[in-house]
Amino acid sequence: MPIVFPFDPDIARASTIPARLYHDPVYLELEMERVFAHTWQLVGRTDQVATHGQFFTADVGPNSIVVLRDGEQLRAFYNVCLHRAGPVASGCGKRNTLQCRYHGWTYALDGSLQRTPGMEGTTQFRPDEMRLVPVAVTTWGPLVFVNLDGKAPPLTEVLEDLPARVAPFHCERMQYVTTRSWEIACNWKVYVDNYLEGYHVPVVHPGLNKELDMERYRVEPHRWFSIQHAPLRPVHGGHAERRYDPAATDVPEAVYAWLFPNTMLNVYLGQMQTNVVIPLGPDRCRVVFDWYADNPPADAATDPTWVKLMAFSAEVQDEDIGICEVVQRNLRSRVYDRGRYSAEHETGVHHFHSLLHEAMT
Ligand code: FES
Ligand SMILES: [Fe+2]
Repeated sequence: MPIVFPFDPDIARASTIPARLYHDPVYLELEMERVFAHTWQLVGRTDQVATHGQFFTADVGPNSIVVLRDGEQLRAFYNVCLHRAGPVASGCGKRNTLQCRYHGWTYALDGSLQRTPGMEGTTQFRPDEMRLVPVAVTTWGPLVFVNLDGKAPPLTEVLEDLPARVAPFHCERMQYVTTRSWEIACNWKVYVDNYLEGYHVPVVHPGLNKELDMERYRVEPHRWFSIQHAPLRPVHGGHAERRYDPAATDVPEAVYAWLFPNTMLNVYLGQMQTNVVIPLGPDRCRVVFDWYADNPPADAATDPTWVKLMAFSAEVQDEDIGICEVVQRNLRSRVYDRGRYSAEHETGVHHFHSLLHEAMT
């Protein structure tokens, strides 16, 4: 199958990427290797690996990974036993060693192989030279990222000045509140495309559209990420009930950042939300939202402010899911292959497709 697909770096002339890239299983396999195995993936939180021995597992495409705290050191490994590929960790928890759930080989937290019961008769076997395969791991505020590509540029380089841009919000002090996830019948790129433009807001999200000043909406593409600026609408006298207070002038504008390929970071005053889009198949993905706050509620499920916040978020998310699932079906229609971009409103989508094109070809 040709992995080369046409792409024009000039958005004014460009057509969108071919429809088959959104449902071809072979293409997804290639994306797993060429995109997901070479980019920083948000896999968890620092509070899950705060003390010695704490660990959690996560998947990056077909690769199971374990992230753990070994004293001062945060480490990550492929969660694949060197014997016959059993799992050395499952879920999350706290352990002094990692014991494979298949035949019990045991690894120290630094990945070295410590015990191999029943291997006495095996020759030219050097367990003292064997260790779990390490994976690059790093943190940014409360977030833990891994990168399967040992030669990838460090996350700090990829993020450029993004940490400085969100510094006024003090994300590093925020604490985890809650998680919601949705399984969606669309290719992961359909969801990402949709996130990257505000063009659909007036039509798909009437409620959100009341809050945002879409006239002043703009996208700022960087090398590996983009930022969407969606300022709040000014208040007009006697305007209907508003969710946010745009009159509060000391409030910094919210930051909506997307990091190639599948991570979003939405930062507001006092709280932030991460969204990770996990491919489950050519026409299926899971989207995981994690919320963090300066002052986490005792229970987000009953706290009135959080109940409202989550309900509004779910309303917007349901609207997005509805349109994404229909688009996914239509991408298989025999009459559709490529469309055109709005040069004014879809620079974020075009930027994403340019990075995809670069990674895939
Ligand atoms: S596969 Fe791990 S001990 Fe056998
Ligand atoms: Fe949307």
